[in-house]
Amino acid sequence: MKKDSLTNIADEIKTDKGALRWPHHGYTFTYEMLFQHLRDKPISVLELGLAKTSQDYRGRSELRTKAVSPSVEMWQRYFPKSHVTGFDLSDFSSQESERFSFIKGDLGKASDYDVIISLNRKFEIIVDDGSHASFHQMLAFSKLFPLLNDGGFYIIEDLISQPKTIEEAKPTSHTMALLFREFLRLGYFPETSPIIQEEFNQFLGQINNVLLIPYHNLNGGNDQLCILHKKEGTRFHHYRTKIRFFRSLPALNEMQSLELQTSIDAENPYSYYWLSLLMLENKDLEKAWEYACVAAQNSPYDLEIAALQGKVLIAQGRNNNAVDFAISKMTNEVSLEVVGLQLAQDFITAQSFDSAILLLEKILKFKSDLSHGIFLLGKCYESKKSFEKSLSLYMKAIEILPSKLIYLKAYSRVSRFLNNKDAILFAEQFKDYYDNKSGYHVMMAMLYFHFKEFDFALQEAEFAKNDPVQIEWVEKFRNKVIKAKSLL
Ligand SMILES: C[S@@+](CC[C@H](N)C(=O)[O-])C[C@H]1O[C@@H](n2cnc3c(N)ncnc32)[C@H](O)[C@@H]1O
Repeated sequence: MKKDSLTNIADEIKTDKGALRWPHHGYTFTYEMLFQHLRDKPISVLELGLAKTSQDYRGRSELRTKAVSPSVEMWQRYFPKSHVTGFDLSDFSSQESERFSFIKGDLGKASDYDVIISLNRKFEIIVDDGSHASFHQMLAFSKLFPLLNDGGFYIIEDLISQPKTIEEAKPTSHTMALLFREFLRLGYFPETSPIIQEEFNQFLGQINNVLLIPYHNLNGGNDQLCILHKKEGTRFHHYRTKIRFFRSLPALNEMQSLELQTSIDAENPYSYYWLSLLMLENKDLEKAWEYACVAAQNSPYDLEIAALQGKVLIAQGRNNNAVDFAISKMTNEVSLEVVGLQLAQDFITAQSFDSAILLLEKILKFKSDLSHGIFLLGKCYESKKSFEKSLSLYMKAIEILPSKLIYLKAYSRVSRFLNNKDAILFAEQFKDYYDNKSGYHVMMAMLYFHFKEFDFALQEAEFAKNDPVQIEWVEKFRNKVIKAKSLL
């Protein structure tokens, strides 16, 4: 008998992971390809966020007493020998059975994950379809990745549909999507918040690969899916680990580079991406360009690879070509950010401010309210010492996205040239933008720290401590302040 496809099951049960129920994400088409080989295996699945409808984010669903989860039913039908564990703010315990266990908890509370951890269960698939707030996604990943079996999949759905109120309160400067995009580009997780950076980077050696899929759902909307594949023990030889090793050497000699080239995985377009990046670091610009072009040929629509091509052009000093190249790639909002803003940043790093301004003006013509573009333009003018102009650009960026700490920090930095205390007064105005006031206190603590007003910094950090999510951060911050004070 022919088995039902995952999408058919999803549509029959009415989860939005399928093709019929609004907003028709269609993720099941991808899942079907990834999970077919597991179908008749006795696997364990963990899903965060189980609701019946997609309208009850942020805990309003707590009001429901008896909830039924369509996605749990979907996994159980698709994997008939599976066991599903579910986690949600709402109570789904009435659905518990031999093949389904439920845990009630809040994705934003670090201690609520302890119950899942205490189950001592390993999962083949973990799906985060909870609040979709970046910080919740990050906390969940840092707590739950160790529970994923070797070779397992960690999936984060709806990376773009971030609930504004929780987002603005987040104590990090990156979204989850950006964090993984940076991971793909750099091979490690860059600064986000002190907690996240350390915890995520611990997992580096265990990540086989990450796919970030821009999902234009069948409803015409934009979203993004992150699929992370955990390494299968040591037998899975990963080129990235190898390249990181080479990169850590003081100088890359002929021998090593040859060794690296022969060991590269030819079928993976990202091998050439990394090889090109390595050559770029080694200042072999001809080779860097050659490899970036091979990567682009293998994977013509990959925006990360396009951004690398632009980076090489900038390193070669072909600034006009790089601007034209970036413009030719900027066809939608995602490419505007991945290629456009990235190359503008690269121009800034290379201190080519005029080219950066030229590119940023083009970007802002496409999308005039792109706060990060406005911020980068402010940075260019700041570097050119046009402080008044840069201050007004920073102000504009803040008005669009008031919770972005780096914008406030930039504003405060520049306003020091004009009037020191302005920055703190200015930042105080934004208290109301924070639903969760701990985010505000974190921002103020960092601002006071910036101005070396250490006692106020500590006081603000203490306020932030009321939020359990911040406790760890506050501890680390306090040590940082004490150290800075002792150096005075
Ligand atoms: C998009 S729905 C899940 C849909 C379901 N997985 C499906 O495919 O049919 C999101 C769920 O996340 C839950 N949720 C929202 N915020 C949460 C939080 N902070 N902690 C735990 N669960 C949360 C909501 O109660 C809701 O049940």
